[in-house]
Amino acid sequence: MRISTGDITGKKKGSASNDIFEKCRNFTRPSDLQSTGLYMYFEVFGDREGCGPGEVRMGRRKVLMFGSNDYLGLITHPKVIEAAAQAVHKYGTGCSGSRLLNGTLDLHVKLEAELAALVHKEAAIMFSTGFQGNYGTLSALTEKGDVMICDHNLHASLVEGALRSPARTVRFRHNDMEHFERCLENCPPDEKIFVVSEGVFSMEGDIADLRGTLRLAKPYGARVYVDEAHGIGVLGATGAGAAEHLGVLDDVDIVMGTFSKSLASVGGFIAAERSVVEYLKHTSRPFVFSASLPAASVAAVGAALQIMKKEPERRQHLLRIAQLLRDELRARGFAVLPGETAIVPVVIQDELDLCRLCKALLDEGIYINPVLRPAAAQNLLRISCTAAHTEKHLDRLLSTLEKVSNALGIER
Ligand SMILES: Cc1ncc(COP(=O)(O)O)c(C=O)c1O
Repeated sequence: MRISTGDITGKKKGSASNDIFEKCRNFTRPSDLQSTGLYMYFEVFGDREGCGPGEVRMGRRKVLMFGSNDYLGLITHPKVIEAAAQAVHKYGTGCSGSRLLNGTLDLHVKLEAELAALVHKEAAIMFSTGFQGNYGTLSALTEKGDVMICDHNLHASLVEGALRSPARTVRFRHNDMEHFERCLENCPPDEKIFVVSEGVFSMEGDIADLRGTLRLAKPYGARVYVDEAHGIGVLGATGAGAAEHLGVLDDVDIVMGTFSKSLASVGGFIAAERSVVEYLKHTSRPFVFSASLPAASVAAVGAALQIMKKEPERRQHLLRIAQLLRDELRARGFAVLPGETAIVPVVIQDELDLCRLCKALLDEGIYINPVLRPAAAQNLLRISCTAAHTEKHLDRLLSTLEKVSNALGIER
């Protein structure tokens, strides 16, 4: 028990540094960056009325968006908007309860069946965010005596799930199958193994070696979990993601997807054999103790999914545009990381150069996210392409990037 030595105002006599808020008042990193004019976070976007494809509004300006994960360009698609609007009219604006109790709609059940079919699994369960899906699955599914073998570059939601889990966690060097094999070999025979990877890595945009992962993991009886947040909609014959693209979708045990990227909404899902989904439905705390997704968000995903299936040309266009951009950037001497997805990362070694570059691009009407270490292994200008981009957009991006990087004297 702690005995308070403070008075009724909460002030401890003779001590100014006993306040839990003290660290917040001393937290000056954002304001330090703001004072240099290079702070690039929490930029405010307005409505999209009058904006063309690939554009967003910032204040009075229309800005060309190369920092969005709306990979199929569906956020403003009339059919997606109409589906969300109709759902609001029919179901209201919220569910006001958890799926377990009073928050399950017929729309949730229908969409879960469609998602399970998309990724060739028996069943699916939706979470209110993709973050919750990862966190809530890893933490619920693993126990003391299990081991989670994770790629080094996992998203924070997976890392949080691993931290919350009582299982032992081991990390192997990013996409390094030799190191992965050593991690498997080092597991005691009685440990149950759970392998966790992303299909497309979110910052560098590279594809996981899922064939190697599965080939090595299966003889150990390991289960394999793949986060397809950046793969769904972008890769695979039907847009099911990296595992489909690599021909191993049926062999992956659990597929996670998010609605906040290609599927133009918010939320996430986990798909697996039915027993796993039923287990999660009753044990995953973010699922059990959080309100379910509102009808409008669910209906938007349903409509986006239909478009994704019916219009593979969106995905083909997106991948062509991204490849064209990679080629043109390389031809101009920029250091582009290898890849074949919608994410086109350019290495800009110096952190300050990267921030200055992003700010200068924004001044010219182009929005791109800077990714600073340790969020990625190197400082990156993370360009993300969408199906809404055209060759004309690429021309503008390339000429502006050349102009501002020359003006700032940034080394290539
Ligand atoms: C790889 C990966 N997994 C999970 C998430 C979380 O998804 P959501 O935005 O739906 O919470 C993200 C989001 O950025 C991500 O990049």
